[in-house]
Amino acid sequence: MFGILRFGLRVARKSTVIAVAAALLGAATAIVIPVLTGRAIGGALGVIRNGLDRPYVVVLIVLLLALAISNVTSVLGQTGFELADGPIRREVTLRIGWALSHDPDLTEMEDPATAALVQKVRSREWEISMGYQLLTGVATRQIPALIGTAVTLGIVLTWWAPLPIMILILINAEYLRRVITTQMDVWSGQTEGQKHAAYAFEQAMGKAAKEIRIFGLADYLRRRMMGYALEGYRPYWARRWRDAGLSVVLGVAKVIATLAVICYAAWQAATGRIDLTTIATAIPLIMAMADTDLWMIGQLQRAGTTYGWLEQLAPTKQYAQDQTEGAAKVAAAARTTKIATPAELTSADTIIRPADADTADSIETPASTAMVVGDRRRPDEPATSPPPGIVFDEVSFGYPGSDRLILDGLSLELPAGDAVALVGVNGAGKSTLVKLLVAGYLPTRGRVLVDGVDLASLDVDQRRAWQRRVSPITQEFLRLPLPAGDNVELGSGAVWAGRLDPDPVPDTAVLDDIAQRAGITDLVQRLPAGWLTSLDKTMPGGTDLSGGEWQRIGLARALRAVSSGAQVLVLDEPAAALDVQSEARLVDGYLDLARSVTSLIISHRFSVVRPVPSICVLEHGRIVEHGAHEELMDIADGRYRAMFRMQASRYAEADAEVEAELRAAEVEA
Ligand SMILES: Nc1ncnc2c1ncn2[C@@H]1O[C@H](COP(=O)(O)OP(=O)(O)O)[C@@H](O)[C@H]1O
Ligand SMILES: [Mg+2]
Repeated sequence: MFGILRFGLRVARKSTVIAVAAALLGAATAIVIPVLTGRAIGGALGVIRNGLDRPYVVVLIVLLLALAISNVTSVLGQTGFELADGPIRREVTLRIGWALSHDPDLTEMEDPATAALVQKVRSREWEISMGYQLLTGVATRQIPALIGTAVTLGIVLTWWAPLPIMILILINAEYLRRVITTQMDVWSGQTEGQKHAAYAFEQAMGKAAKEIRIFGLADYLRRRMMGYALEGYRPYWARRWRDAGLSVVLGVAKVIATLAVICYAAWQAATGRIDLTTIATAIPLIMAMADTDLWMIGQLQRAGTTYGWLEQLAPTKQYAQDQTEGAAKVAAAARTTKIATPAELTSADTIIRPADADTADSIETPASTAMVVGDRRRPDEPATSPPPGIVFDEVSFGYPGSDRLILDGLSLELPAGDAVALVGVNGAGKSTLVKLLVAGYLPTRGRVLVDGVDLASLDVDQRRAWQRRVSPITQEFLRLPLPAGDNVELGSGAVWAGRLDPDPVPDTAVLDDIAQRAGITDLVQRLPAGWLTSLDKTMPGGTDLSGGEWQRIGLARALRAVSSGAQVLVLDEPAAALDVQSEARLVDGYLDLARSVTSLIISHRFSVVRPVPSICVLEHGRIVEHGAHEELMDIADGRYRAMFRMQASRYAEADAEVEAELRAAEVEA
């Protein structure tokens, strides 16, 4: 709970201070008001007999002031924590995002324990901001007010007077704490039925919504969801009834205790042991106590637990340190990085290809060049460092938590400035190899060397910097709900170099040049607002693209990265969603582009890899064959030859069918 208060102070200091101060002042008025009310009533008889005197007027004025302050503090407190609400929610979300994205290593992110923790925090994220509100608003006002009222009553009436009510308040608070904790668990979708209902809803309305309609499953899923939704509430309702019964019993007990204390006060007054002022003070104090109900303890406790999970996921200290360091780095980068102008981008020729660099030599370069690994050339700089050579040296790899080796003693060389193609069946481990290439994972055994430097020897910053040097299109390429221009321009690295806010109007001269080279000029011209068109149907003027069109946008982004200095190009199944024409353009464009960078193109389509001079076949976790297309076709019982033939024969069959149909059509005509 104090964690949340510290959190609030860090994120929204002013609002938190205002809310807490207002609540404490409010608590003070809650004690002052009954005391002065007692005075006002007690002095009334004197005023009736002798007329107004100065002390009585002072009591009345102070009482009025206290009432006014009480009202003002309520409004002020409310405003305070409502102002803090936005920053707190934002910070919670940012911290979860940070936990999932700050590490260049993918291991943590894909770890099931982390995933479970993220799931838990996300499902109860809102409890943190609510806990903050309850803490700064309700708890900081009610708890001191209750203690103050009890102490005052003890002094005014008799020491034990507050005890019966206090004990019942505490019993009730503890009971409510338990009730709320369990009820909220039931409530926040923890029952089987609710999970099923959520799943059915997701199915009917989410990603598969179109298929669901076409298959006529909507009605079925709706009924299923309804059934589960009600069933899901049944345990909650059962609890609610049971809890309500006990709550009534406890409530009655509190009323009896209150009555008993009031009767005692009345008896004291009747027997002349206390005067009018005392009883007139005691009764409002008793009523104020009786009116207090510490229902928020359970919610505060849950909020504390949720905050604890967040703290576990993204420790404040580490997070804060990363934020300041990150900001400093971005600021430094922003000072030195200029975005390339079209003239500087005219072609990939500006990136020097190492003149027959002896790759074997460069691979043996000592590890002292580690920093070079992370030195992505600034776009406006003349190319000084050549593209790197990459070597997989007997690499074995299995995903964390699994014994199965996906790569098993794999050796592969991507010579500096050359293009290599990789083929293999589904699940052969091609995408896994990319993850190792970008140091998203480190090999279980063996090494991945970049210009002779082992990626495992890099620290976090160097690993990040290495990733910035690679321009990948992964199989699950990014589809950002942003304008088309931003989707391409993000490849320039401008964002991580400090231009966190890309210009509202992207530099279209640069983008048009990229579009031409990526073959998406027609696509962009078709968009209603050109580069500014949001690629998100839910945005005004926005539109969605087909799978193939998205893939071409992704390719343009990769080109943008290369044109602004990325030296390693990785295309993982770049043609999967492309039509024949786009695929042909991709292959031509790729070979042209690949002249200036070290590149790896992965595809299960032989038409894509065929023109690449160096083709590797991945099978059983290692490279089983490599060479040019003709060489691989010459291996009598080779894998490449077998797979190529199978694919080619399918196409040949299809072609024959098409031809036969065309001929038949001609005959008919
Ligand atoms: N994050 C992961 N955790 C565990 N296993 C994975 C993960 N990603 C992929 N795999 C497994 O690794 C194998 C190789 O996957 P992948 O490299 O994507 O194959 P390819 O790209 O060649 O089709 C597959 O059997 C897949 O199930
Ligand atoms: Mg793959």
